[in-house]
Amino acid sequence: MTIVAHTRSEYREFIGRKPGKRAFVPTMGALHAGHLELVKAARQEVGPDGEVVVSIFVNPTQFGANEDLTQYPRPFHEDVKLCTEAGVDVVFAPLVEEMYPGGVSLGDMTSVQAGPVGSILEGASRPGHFAGMLTVVAKLFNLTGPDIAFFGEKDYQQLALVSAMVRDLNFPIDVRGVTTVRDTDGLALSSRNLYLSDAERATAVAIPRALTAAQMCGGSVREKLAAAQAELVGDIEVTYLAAMRNDLQAALDPDATDVPGRILIAARVGTTHLIDNCPISVGV
Ligand code: PAF
Repeated sequence: MTIVAHTRSEYREFIGRKPGKRAFVPTMGALHAGHLELVKAARQEVGPDGEVVVSIFVNPTQFGANEDLTQYPRPFHEDVKLCTEAGVDVVFAPLVEEMYPGGVSLGDMTSVQAGPVGSILEGASRPGHFAGMLTVVAKLFNLTGPDIAFFGEKDYQQLALVSAMVRDLNFPIDVRGVTTVRDTDGLALSSRNLYLSDAERATAVAIPRALTAAQMCGGSVREKLAAAQAELVGDIEVTYLAAMRNDLQAALDPDATDVPGRILIAARVGTTHLIDNCPISVGV
């Protein structure tokens, strides 16, 4: 049975009933198959004697002033139903007041700085986003007390930053990335895909095609980027196409022919901002 806890004290009452490890999947709700894959990975990891906790919290501090927090979908009952079907033990769904008793202005509270990786790629156009994300993840880690936490590779920069936070601030938590779930046309699952018209969706599949082209292309980082760029045609506005080290601390040398790394793409199709990425092994 899945139990829903809205407060820290409710959570404490319900958690710790099983002897095994605790796995945690943080979400903002509006769950789709990508989230359920994280839940599945969590259950596989801890087994039937472990606890799987999913948080549902639309975090105000990671939304910019021009991003409409109030419009974010909140199909709470449907989400709880999906969690129940997926065998989640506890859904932690706190109110804003519970998470941020002193208000939601990051500048007025103790918060987590994202460091240089927080201001590149997605962070370049969303100042403060990753500080807000890391602050809430740190709070959720402290409130839910997991042994292992699962994040989707689709939001690769988020995963890299959470891994860095856990290392730098000594959280005793094992962070795991889970492979991106894709639709049959290759598009990475995202709640934002709902905003695409049929024509926009047909354009958007250029993004996974570009990633595949980069992966398939032999040769240097420069050649891989060129192969990806060649696919990004049509009514698509590329925000960035980058080849980075796996920890995102630096761009790969364009001439490199023997490094592992990651290709990351962000593009606007119509009014929808889409991101995707894949691993590359250059010359290996
Ligand atoms: O990926 C998300 O849904 C959010 O950024 C997270 C990790 C739940 C923090 O609010």
